[in-house]
Amino acid sequence: MLWQSLARPLLFCLPAERAHYFSMGAFQMLMSSKWAVKQYRRRNEVNDSRLQSEVFGLTFRNPVGLAAGFDKDARWYSILPALGFGHVEVGTLTGQSQAGNPKPRLFRLPKDHAIINRMGFNNRGSDAAARRLASSSKSDPGDILGVNIGKTKIIPLEEAVSDYLFSFERLFAFADYFTVNVSSPNTPGLRQLQSRDPLLDLLTRIKALNLKLANDHEVPPKPVLLKIAPDLSDELLADIVSIVKEIRPDGIIATNTTIGRDGLVTPGSKIDAIGNGGLSGAPLTAISRQVVETLYRELDGQTPIIGLGGIMDGESAWKMICAGASLIQTYTGFIYGGPKFVRDINRYLVQKIQDAGMESIADAVGSAT
Ligand code: FNR
Repeated sequence: MLWQSLARPLLFCLPAERAHYFSMGAFQMLMSSKWAVKQYRRRNEVNDSRLQSEVFGLTFRNPVGLAAGFDKDARWYSILPALGFGHVEVGTLTGQSQAGNPKPRLFRLPKDHAIINRMGFNNRGSDAAARRLASSSKSDPGDILGVNIGKTKIIPLEEAVSDYLFSFERLFAFADYFTVNVSSPNTPGLRQLQSRDPLLDLLTRIKALNLKLANDHEVPPKPVLLKIAPDLSDELLADIVSIVKEIRPDGIIATNTTIGRDGLVTPGSKIDAIGNGGLSGAPLTAISRQVVETLYRELDGQTPIIGLGGIMDGESAWKMICAGASLIQTYTGFIYGGPKFVRDINRYLVQKIQDAGMESIADAVGSAT
């Protein structure tokens, strides 16, 4: 209640990007001792074994994760699980440090419960992130850390693979899983990597490096997931399905933000004034769920999917899981929903599992298809 009536209105008075760093700075201060993290985690974590699941070889305490883009430089990855998340994905990290697009580049659409961003992968690069990760540790060894990698803007598309491989190698030791991001609308040309030949090449070479590094470090290969856009033509989606059947990545994350602007209630003049960028939040709910449903059906439920896009409450989370998502992630819903958002979703999921007479969340995956 305090979030809806006081904290959110105050934060929403600040420009969106400043509000992000201000609130995370405050959260970091609150979480400055191990004791505080533990107490806060106890309040927000829903400890129910029915929420737990094994997906691509990892054990997730609950299905709700934090999506990439929130903690781009892995600054807060150790304290974010205290908000109740079952996993946290950092990044997108690129081979080289880059400033991203000029500000302003992040815009709220409160009437639509949405955000438009054209951040442009602002991050300090995978080398800096690796140093940060090496000098800190998870607050609980069971926390799951995903690392999302993308292409540095100034690297030409033809050399993109080397840029991904550099980040993969540099961050290998720290990631529980990797996400290969080929779907941000804010890096020119990036989405071209979703077409058949470049994608095959990228995934094949990442797979080879994964096996080599696993061998060198004497550890199992890391799960590698592919993150896709919601705006794919039927033909491109079919290509992705066939590539997934061929290369067998460990999972798919669907979806990134959309370049579409359909169905918004925010006045067109305001949307035009904002300009380019990816739209996220409530307008994406049905679109992303449809992509998840199609992928689940076309892949016969054989490749785990992380459902993402417009998860705004417990019901949209449940529907995404029933459409075929083994896990879900959130960004915009969390911005609007506040600190209790993840706990409320997990509580809702437990209730739904119980009402449906299911034994665990895994029974719900794809149950509506
Ligand atoms: C994002 N997203 C994102 N995704 C990604 O793979 N790498 C990134 O760096 C970012 N950056 C980013 C910044 C901001 C401000 C937003 C709002 C989003 C996309 C995000 O992970 C997610 O795919 C979409 O936002 C859709 O989910 P929600 O926001 O509707 O829950």
